[in-house]
Amino acid sequence: MPVNPEKSEKPEILLTGATGFIGKRLLYRLDEKGYRVRCLVRSSERFSLPVPLNHEPEIVSGDLLEPESLKHAMEGISTAYYLVHSMGGKSHGKHLEFEERDRKAARNFITCADNAGLRRIIYLGGLGDASDHLSHHLASRQEVGRILSSGRCETTTLRAAVIIGAGGAGFEIIRYLVERLPVMLCPRWVYTMSQPIAVENVLDYLSGCLEYPETAGQTFDIGGPEILGYADMMRIYAKTRGLKRTIAGIPFFSTTLSSYWVNLITPVPAGIVFALAEGLKNQAICRENRIREIIPIALISMDQAICNALAEETSGPGAISRQACFLSDGRKNS
Ligand SMILES: NC(=O)c1ccc[n+]([C@@H]2O[C@H](COP(=O)([O-])OP(=O)(O)OC[C@H]3O[C@@H](n4cnc5c(N)ncnc54)[C@H](OP(=O)(O)O)[C@@H]3O)[C@@H](O)[C@H]2O)c1
Repeated sequence: MPVNPEKSEKPEILLTGATGFIGKRLLYRLDEKGYRVRCLVRSSERFSLPVPLNHEPEIVSGDLLEPESLKHAMEGISTAYYLVHSMGGKSHGKHLEFEERDRKAARNFITCADNAGLRRIIYLGGLGDASDHLSHHLASRQEVGRILSSGRCETTTLRAAVIIGAGGAGFEIIRYLVERLPVMLCPRWVYTMSQPIAVENVLDYLSGCLEYPETAGQTFDIGGPEILGYADMMRIYAKTRGLKRTIAGIPFFSTTLSSYWVNLITPVPAGIVFALAEGLKNQAICRENRIREIIPIALISMDQAICNALAEETSGPGAISRQACFLSDGRKNS
Protein backbone atom coordinates (compact mmCIF):
# COMPACT_ATOMS: atom_id res chain seq x y z
CA MET A 1 0.00 0.00 0.00
CA PRO A 2 1.32 3.48 -0.84
CA VAL A 3 1.96 5.80 2.07
CA ASN A 4 2.32 9.55 1.98
CA PRO A 5 5.62 10.17 3.72
CA GLU A 6 5.62 13.24 5.92
CA LYS A 7 7.02 16.15 4.00
CA SER A 8 9.12 18.58 5.94
CA GLU A 9 9.96 22.19 5.13
CA LYS A 10 13.64 21.29 5.25
CA PRO A 11 15.23 19.01 2.64
CA GLU A 12 15.32 15.40 3.79
CA ILE A 13 16.15 14.03 0.37
CA LEU A 14 19.62 14.24 -1.10
CA LEU A 15 19.82 14.01 -4.89
CA THR A 16 23.19 13.10 -6.35
CA GLY A 17 23.69 13.31 -10.12
CA ALA A 18 21.34 16.32 -10.18
CA THR A 19 23.02 17.65 -13.35
CA GLY A 20 22.60 14.32 -15.15
CA PHE A 21 20.02 12.86 -17.52
CA ILE A 22 18.04 11.07 -14.79
CA GLY A 23 18.85 13.31 -11.83
CA LYS A 24 17.63 16.57 -13.35
CA ARG A 25 14.32 14.95 -14.35
CA LEU A 26 13.88 13.32 -10.95
CA LEU A 27 14.31 16.71 -9.29
CA TYR A 28 11.20 17.98 -11.14
CA ARG A 29 9.24 14.83 -10.30
CA LEU A 30 10.09 15.05 -6.57
CA ASP A 31 9.25 18.75 -6.56
CA GLU A 32 5.85 18.03 -8.19
CA LYS A 33 5.17 15.56 -5.39
CA GLY A 34 5.97 18.17 -2.76
CA TYR A 35 9.36 16.94 -1.54
CA ARG A 36 12.10 19.37 -0.54
CA VAL A 37 15.35 18.34 -2.16
CA ARG A 38 19.02 19.06 -1.57
CA CYS A 39 21.10 18.63 -4.73
CA LEU A 40 24.74 17.62 -4.57
CA VAL A 41 26.64 19.05 -7.54
CA ARG A 42 30.30 19.16 -8.47
CA SER A 43 29.91 22.45 -10.27
CA SER A 44 26.98 24.81 -9.79
CA GLU A 45 27.65 26.17 -13.31
CA ARG A 46 26.49 22.85 -14.72
CA PHE A 47 23.26 23.02 -12.74
CA SER A 48 20.37 24.86 -14.36
CA LEU A 49 16.60 24.86 -14.02
CA PRO A 50 15.01 25.45 -17.45
CA VAL A 51 11.58 25.69 -15.80
CA PRO A 52 11.19 27.01 -12.23
CA LEU A 53 10.34 24.55 -9.48
CA ASN A 54 7.62 24.99 -6.86
CA HIS A 55 10.32 24.98 -4.16
CA GLU A 56 13.87 26.13 -4.82
CA PRO A 57 16.18 23.20 -4.14
CA GLU A 58 19.11 23.60 -1.80
CA ILE A 59 22.36 23.27 -3.73
CA VAL A 60 25.49 21.95 -2.05
CA SER A 61 28.90 21.54 -3.66
CA GLY A 62 30.43 18.13 -3.31
CA ASP A 63 32.30 15.40 -5.08
CA LEU A 64 31.84 11.74 -4.23
CA LEU A 65 35.56 11.25 -4.65
CA GLU A 66 36.19 13.79 -1.86
CA PRO A 67 34.53 12.36 1.27
CA GLU A 68 35.01 15.53 3.35
CA SER A 69 32.71 17.35 0.92
CA LEU A 70 29.85 14.90 1.63
CA LYS A 71 29.50 15.53 5.36
CA HIS A 72 27.60 18.79 5.05
CA ALA A 73 25.51 17.39 2.16
CA MET A 74 24.18 14.58 4.35
CA GLU A 75 23.28 16.60 7.45
CA GLY A 76 19.56 16.16 8.27
CA ILE A 77 18.98 13.83 5.31
CA SER A 78 16.95 10.63 5.64
CA THR A 79 16.98 9.34 2.02
CA ALA A 80 19.55 9.77 -0.75
CA TYR A 81 19.27 9.03 -4.45
CA TYR A 82 22.47 7.69 -5.97
CA LEU A 83 22.40 8.60 -9.69
CA VAL A 84 26.09 8.90 -10.42
CA HIS A 85 28.56 7.10 -12.66
CA SER A 86 32.09 8.02 -13.68
CA MET A 87 32.15 6.97 -17.33
CA GLY A 88 33.04 9.68 -19.79
CA GLY A 89 36.03 11.52 -21.08
CA LYS A 90 37.13 12.10 -24.62
CA SER A 91 39.62 9.28 -24.95
CA HIS A 92 39.06 5.61 -25.55
CA GLY A 93 42.24 4.57 -23.67
CA LYS A 94 41.16 6.13 -20.39
CA HIS A 95 37.69 4.71 -20.33
CA LEU A 96 38.49 1.79 -18.03
CA GLU A 97 39.53 4.07 -15.18
CA PHE A 98 35.85 4.63 -14.43
CA GLU A 99 35.60 1.35 -12.48
CA GLU A 100 38.06 2.44 -9.82
CA ARG A 101 36.45 5.87 -9.55
CA ASP A 102 32.98 4.35 -9.20
CA ARG A 103 34.21 1.91 -6.52
CA LYS A 104 35.76 4.78 -4.52
CA ALA A 105 32.73 7.03 -4.94
CA ALA A 106 30.34 4.33 -3.66
CA ARG A 107 32.60 3.48 -0.70
CA ASN A 108 32.91 7.14 0.28
CA PHE A 109 29.17 7.55 -0.02
CA ILE A 110 28.16 4.59 2.13
CA THR A 111 30.72 5.46 4.82
CA CYS A 112 29.42 9.03 5.05
CA ALA A 113 25.79 7.84 4.90
CA ASP A 114 26.36 5.49 7.84
CA ASN A 115 28.13 8.21 9.83
CA ALA A 116 25.32 10.66 9.13
CA GLY A 117 22.61 8.12 10.05
CA LEU A 118 20.83 8.03 6.68
CA ARG A 119 17.95 5.56 6.61
CA ARG A 120 17.60 4.86 2.88
CA ILE A 121 19.56 4.97 -0.39
CA ILE A 122 17.85 4.55 -3.75
CA TYR A 123 20.26 3.57 -6.54
CA LEU A 124 19.64 3.18 -10.27
CA GLY A 125 22.01 0.62 -11.76
CA GLY A 126 22.14 -1.65 -14.80
CA LEU A 127 20.42 -4.89 -15.83
CA GLY A 128 22.48 -7.95 -16.71
CA ASP A 129 23.20 -11.45 -15.38
CA ALA A 130 26.39 -11.84 -13.36
CA SER A 131 26.87 -15.25 -15.04
CA ASP A 132 26.99 -13.64 -18.51
CA HIS A 133 30.64 -12.36 -18.55
CA LEU A 134 29.40 -8.86 -17.96
CA SER A 135 31.12 -5.88 -19.59
CA HIS A 136 33.28 -3.68 -17.35
CA HIS A 137 30.47 -1.12 -17.25
CA LEU A 138 27.70 -3.53 -16.20
CA ALA A 139 29.94 -5.37 -13.73
CA SER A 140 30.89 -2.02 -12.21
CA ARG A 141 27.22 -0.95 -11.88
CA GLN A 142 26.53 -4.19 -10.01
CA GLU A 143 29.59 -3.73 -7.80
CA VAL A 144 28.37 -0.23 -6.88
CA GLY A 145 25.00 -1.77 -5.90
CA ARG A 146 26.76 -4.25 -3.61
CA ILE A 147 28.88 -1.52 -1.98
CA LEU A 148 25.83 0.70 -1.40
CA SER A 149 24.04 -2.27 0.20
CA SER A 150 26.91 -3.02 2.56
CA GLY A 151 26.13 -0.31 5.14
CA ARG A 152 23.46 0.23 7.75
CA CYS A 153 21.05 2.06 5.40
CA GLU A 154 18.35 0.16 3.58
CA THR A 155 19.39 0.37 -0.06
CA THR A 156 16.93 -0.07 -2.92
CA THR A 157 18.57 -0.95 -6.23
CA LEU A 158 16.61 -0.55 -9.45
CA ARG A 159 18.28 -2.23 -12.44
CA ALA A 160 17.48 -0.88 -15.91
CA ALA A 161 18.57 -1.49 -19.52
CA VAL A 162 18.72 1.42 -21.99
CA ILE A 163 16.51 4.30 -20.88
CA ILE A 164 14.59 6.07 -23.65
CA GLY A 165 14.60 9.83 -23.16
CA ALA A 166 16.15 12.95 -24.68
CA GLY A 167 19.78 13.26 -23.61
CA GLY A 168 20.17 9.67 -22.37
CA ALA A 169 23.43 8.23 -23.72
CA GLY A 170 21.90 5.00 -25.08
CA PHE A 171 18.98 6.79 -26.70
CA GLU A 172 21.24 9.45 -28.26
CA ILE A 173 23.40 6.72 -29.82
CA ILE A 174 20.29 5.15 -31.42
CA ARG A 175 19.02 8.55 -32.55
CA TYR A 176 22.22 9.70 -34.25
CA LEU A 177 22.91 6.36 -35.93
CA VAL A 178 19.43 6.09 -37.42
CA GLU A 179 19.17 9.75 -38.36
CA ARG A 180 22.56 9.84 -40.08
CA LEU A 181 23.02 6.41 -41.68
CA PRO A 182 20.57 5.14 -44.33
CA VAL A 183 22.34 1.74 -44.35
CA MET A 184 23.82 0.18 -41.22
CA LEU A 185 25.98 -2.93 -41.25
CA CYS A 186 26.47 -3.79 -37.59
CA PRO A 187 28.15 -6.48 -35.49
CA ARG A 188 26.07 -9.27 -34.06
CA TRP A 189 25.20 -7.10 -31.07
CA VAL A 190 22.28 -5.72 -33.06
CA TYR A 191 20.52 -8.99 -32.25
CA THR A 192 21.25 -8.95 -28.48
CA MET A 193 17.97 -8.73 -26.61
CA SER A 194 17.23 -5.91 -24.22
CA GLN A 195 14.24 -4.42 -22.39
CA PRO A 196 14.31 -0.65 -22.86
CA ILE A 197 12.25 1.55 -20.56
CA ALA A 198 10.85 5.05 -21.00
CA VAL A 199 12.47 7.66 -18.79
CA GLU A 200 9.00 8.66 -17.48
CA ASN A 201 8.53 5.11 -16.15
CA VAL A 202 11.98 5.17 -14.54
CA LEU A 203 10.93 8.34 -12.71
CA ASP A 204 7.65 6.65 -11.66
CA TYR A 205 9.65 3.85 -10.06
CA LEU A 206 12.38 6.03 -8.54
CA SER A 207 9.89 8.41 -6.93
CA GLY A 208 7.48 5.55 -6.12
CA CYS A 209 10.12 3.96 -3.91
CA LEU A 210 9.50 6.78 -1.41
CA GLU A 211 5.80 6.00 -1.21
CA TYR A 212 6.08 2.21 -1.07
CA PRO A 213 8.20 1.43 2.02
CA GLU A 214 8.27 -2.28 1.14
CA THR A 215 10.80 -1.38 -1.60
CA ALA A 216 13.41 -0.51 1.07
CA GLY A 217 16.39 -2.85 1.12
CA GLN A 218 15.29 -4.63 -2.09
CA THR A 219 16.69 -5.03 -5.60
CA PHE A 220 14.26 -4.84 -8.54
CA ASP A 221 14.61 -5.27 -12.29
CA ILE A 222 12.72 -2.53 -14.14
CA GLY A 223 11.84 -2.67 -17.83
CA GLY A 224 9.34 -1.51 -20.41
CA PRO A 225 6.61 -3.65 -22.02
CA GLU A 226 8.75 -4.95 -24.94
CA ILE A 227 11.82 -7.16 -25.22
CA LEU A 228 13.70 -6.06 -28.33
CA GLY A 229 17.00 -6.46 -30.18
CA TYR A 230 18.98 -3.27 -30.84
CA ALA A 231 18.12 -3.66 -34.56
CA ASP A 232 14.41 -3.69 -33.61
CA MET A 233 14.89 -0.54 -31.55
CA MET A 234 16.56 1.21 -34.48
CA ARG A 235 13.79 0.07 -36.85
CA ILE A 236 11.11 1.34 -34.47
CA TYR A 237 12.97 4.66 -34.26
CA ALA A 238 13.12 4.86 -38.09
CA LYS A 239 9.43 4.00 -38.44
CA THR A 240 8.46 6.52 -35.81
CA ARG A 241 10.31 9.19 -37.78
CA GLY A 242 9.10 7.99 -41.19
CA LEU A 243 12.69 7.15 -42.31
CA LYS A 244 13.63 4.26 -44.62
CA ARG A 245 16.59 2.40 -43.12
CA THR A 246 18.41 -0.87 -43.82
CA ILE A 247 19.94 -2.51 -40.75
CA ALA A 248 21.83 -5.81 -40.91
CA GLY A 249 24.15 -7.69 -38.55
CA ILE A 250 27.33 -9.18 -40.00
CA PRO A 251 29.25 -11.79 -37.98
CA PHE A 252 32.87 -10.73 -38.65
CA PHE A 253 32.36 -7.08 -37.68
CA SER A 254 33.92 -6.62 -34.22
CA THR A 255 32.31 -4.64 -31.40
CA THR A 256 35.51 -2.62 -30.90
CA LEU A 257 35.56 -1.62 -34.56
CA SER A 258 31.89 -0.67 -34.37
CA SER A 259 32.62 1.50 -31.29
CA TYR A 260 34.92 3.64 -33.45
CA TRP A 261 32.21 4.40 -36.00
CA VAL A 262 29.56 4.91 -33.32
CA ASN A 263 32.01 7.39 -31.81
CA LEU A 264 32.42 9.18 -35.15
CA ILE A 265 28.70 9.43 -35.88
CA THR A 266 27.33 10.38 -32.46
CA PRO A 267 28.14 13.29 -30.12
CA VAL A 268 28.14 11.00 -27.03
CA PRO A 269 31.57 11.21 -25.27
CA ALA A 270 34.00 8.46 -26.36
CA GLY A 271 34.47 7.21 -22.80
CA ILE A 272 30.75 6.44 -22.61
CA VAL A 273 30.47 5.01 -26.14
CA PHE A 274 33.30 2.51 -25.60
CA ALA A 275 32.04 1.45 -22.18
CA LEU A 276 28.44 1.01 -23.38
CA ALA A 277 29.45 -0.71 -26.64
CA GLU A 278 31.29 -3.43 -24.73
CA GLY A 279 28.04 -4.15 -22.89
CA LEU A 280 26.03 -4.67 -26.08
CA LYS A 281 26.99 -8.34 -26.03
CA ASN A 282 25.15 -8.79 -22.71
CA GLN A 283 21.40 -9.42 -22.65
CA ALA A 284 19.60 -6.88 -20.50
CA ILE A 285 16.19 -8.38 -19.73
CA CYS A 286 14.19 -8.32 -16.49
CA ARG A 287 14.46 -11.67 -14.71
CA GLU A 288 11.63 -10.79 -12.36
CA ASN A 289 8.81 -8.22 -12.34
CA ARG A 290 8.02 -7.88 -8.61
CA ILE A 291 8.12 -4.09 -8.84
CA ARG A 292 5.05 -4.12 -11.12
CA GLU A 293 2.95 -5.47 -8.27
CA ILE A 294 4.32 -3.08 -5.67
CA ILE A 295 4.31 0.09 -7.82
CA PRO A 296 1.60 -0.44 -10.44
CA ILE A 297 2.12 1.99 -13.34
CA ALA A 298 1.15 2.08 -17.02
CA LEU A 299 4.23 1.04 -18.98
CA ILE A 300 5.06 3.20 -22.01
CA SER A 301 5.71 1.46 -25.36
CA MET A 302 9.01 1.97 -27.21
CA ASP A 303 7.44 3.99 -30.04
CA GLN A 304 5.61 6.26 -27.62
CA ALA A 305 8.79 6.70 -25.56
CA ILE A 306 10.68 7.70 -28.73
CA CYS A 307 7.95 10.20 -29.67
CA ASN A 308 8.13 11.70 -26.18
CA ALA A 309 11.91 11.96 -26.39
CA LEU A 310 11.94 13.59 -29.83
CA ALA A 311 9.24 16.06 -28.88
CA GLU A 312 11.52 17.18 -26.06
CA GLU A 313 14.59 17.62 -28.29
CA THR A 314 15.72 21.16 -28.88
CA SER A 315 18.82 20.43 -30.97
CA GLY A 316 20.34 17.77 -33.21
CA PRO A 317 18.60 15.62 -35.81
CA GLY A 318 15.12 14.21 -35.35
CA ALA A 319 13.63 16.94 -33.18
CA ILE A 320 9.90 16.98 -33.94
CA SER A 321 6.71 18.48 -32.81
CA ARG A 322 4.61 15.98 -30.91
CA GLN A 323 2.10 15.91 -33.79
CA ALA A 324 4.72 14.93 -36.41
CA CYS A 325 5.42 11.57 -34.91
CA PHE A 326 4.01 8.23 -36.10
CA LEU A 327 3.43 5.34 -33.73
CA SER A 328 4.31 1.83 -35.01
CA ASP A 329 0.74 1.03 -36.03
CA GLY A 330 0.66 4.07 -38.32
CA ARG A 331 -1.39 6.16 -35.89
CA LYS A 332 -0.27 9.73 -35.49
CA ASN A 333 0.88 10.63 -32.01
CA SER A 334 -1.61 12.80 -30.22
N1 LIG B 1 21.10 6.62 -19.25
C1 LIG B 1 20.71 5.35 -19.31
O1 LIG B 1 20.21 4.87 -20.38
C2 LIG B 1 20.83 4.47 -18.09
C3 LIG B 1 20.42 3.13 -18.21
C4 LIG B 1 20.49 2.31 -17.09
C5 LIG B 1 20.97 2.78 -15.88
N2 LIG B 1 21.38 4.10 -15.80
C6 LIG B 1 21.93 4.54 -14.49
O2 LIG B 1 21.32 5.76 -14.10
C7 LIG B 1 22.25 6.49 -13.28
C8 LIG B 1 22.30 7.93 -13.78
O3 LIG B 1 22.77 7.90 -15.13
P1 LIG B 1 22.58 9.13 -16.13
O4 LIG B 1 22.26 8.55 -17.47
O5 LIG B 1 21.68 10.15 -15.52
O6 LIG B 1 24.07 9.69 -16.17
P2 LIG B 1 24.63 11.14 -16.59
O7 LIG B 1 23.63 11.91 -17.35
O8 LIG B 1 25.95 10.89 -17.24
O9 LIG B 1 24.86 11.85 -15.19
C9 LIG B 1 25.86 11.41 -14.31
C10 LIG B 1 25.84 12.32 -13.10
O10 LIG B 1 26.84 11.88 -12.18
C11 LIG B 1 27.51 13.03 -11.68
N3 LIG B 1 28.84 12.64 -11.18
C12 LIG B 1 29.78 11.92 -11.81
N4 LIG B 1 30.85 11.76 -11.02
C13 LIG B 1 30.56 12.40 -9.85
C14 LIG B 1 31.28 12.59 -8.63
N5 LIG B 1 32.51 12.11 -8.47
N6 LIG B 1 30.69 13.31 -7.65
C15 LIG B 1 29.45 13.82 -7.81
N7 LIG B 1 28.71 13.67 -8.94
C16 LIG B 1 29.28 12.96 -9.95
C17 LIG B 1 27.57 13.95 -12.89
O11 LIG B 1 27.88 15.27 -12.48
P3 LIG B 1 28.66 16.34 -13.44
O12 LIG B 1 27.58 17.12 -14.14
O13 LIG B 1 29.44 17.14 -12.48
O14 LIG B 1 29.51 15.54 -14.39
C18 LIG B 1 26.15 13.78 -13.43
O15 LIG B 1 25.26 14.60 -12.72
C19 LIG B 1 23.59 5.75 -13.36
O16 LIG B 1 23.75 4.97 -12.20
C20 LIG B 1 23.41 4.85 -14.57
O17 LIG B 1 24.17 3.66 -14.48
C21 LIG B 1 21.32 4.95 -16.87
